[in-house]
Amino acid sequence: MLVDIHNHVLPGLDDGPATEIEAIRLIENAVQNGVTHIVATPHHRNGVFIQNVDEIKYSIRILNEFLQLKEIPITICPGMEIHLHGELIDELADQALTLGDSHKYVLIEFPTHHIPQFTDSIFYELQLKGYIPIIAHAEKNAEFLREPKKLFDLVQRGALVQITAGSVTGSNGKNLQRFVMKLCQSHIVHFIASDAHNISQRPFLIKQAYRVIQQKMGKQFVDYLQLNAIHVVEGKEFQTLLPKTLKG
Ligand SMILES: [Fe+2]
Repeated sequence: MLVDIHNHVLPGLDDGPATEIEAIRLIENAVQNGVTHIVATPHHRNGVFIQNVDEIKYSIRILNEFLQLKEIPITICPGMEIHLHGELIDELADQALTLGDSHKYVLIEFPTHHIPQFTDSIFYELQLKGYIPIIAHAEKNAEFLREPKKLFDLVQRGALVQITAGSVTGSNGKNLQRFVMKLCQSHIVHFIASDAHNISQRPFLIKQAYRVIQQKMGKQFVDYLQLNAIHVVEGKEFQTLLPKTLKG
């Protein structure tokens, strides 16, 4: 079982594939990467896209039926990549989706350039209500990049961190590759996910990313990351590695 917890494979819902045919090609790319379960996470409230829960579930049902019919060995599960905003918690009641519809794990996208002041209070309240926030592609936020201690502090207070496969492989530049490796060494990375959007520019890259992690961090760390993603889709809580002080 190999789970990808962040990607944009549903057709016509966001800046992922525009058509069903493109979506199937992208999903076949996931299969080639060894992925068996995709948590589809269309952008929600990012200033461009607002999703509808029923529409996402309907799209997934149609896709899964097609995949089964064609004997393509992969399952799509519901989710969302929710941009950090003030009504996030209220929306989780019926207008926003947790990962795998687990009512537990919430994939949260930060603005590109800064960490909003209300982050701490929203994360605190989320956890009081039994949710666990996962910071989507944490390496892509300029303030975390400049001051990784702020990411470390959020992890210390119970947040989880997802980094992008393309940042691990070097496809997003040497600088981000160095940064994500530093985060891995500090044990403040909990998931690698594809954030795949399309075949040409932003494919899955998961297989290659795990290979790089295995070379630099060892197989045990790869197993840990992969098991964490399985727990998410199953809605189970799990023990994380203790963060180590950030170097450099
Ligand atoms: Fe994304």
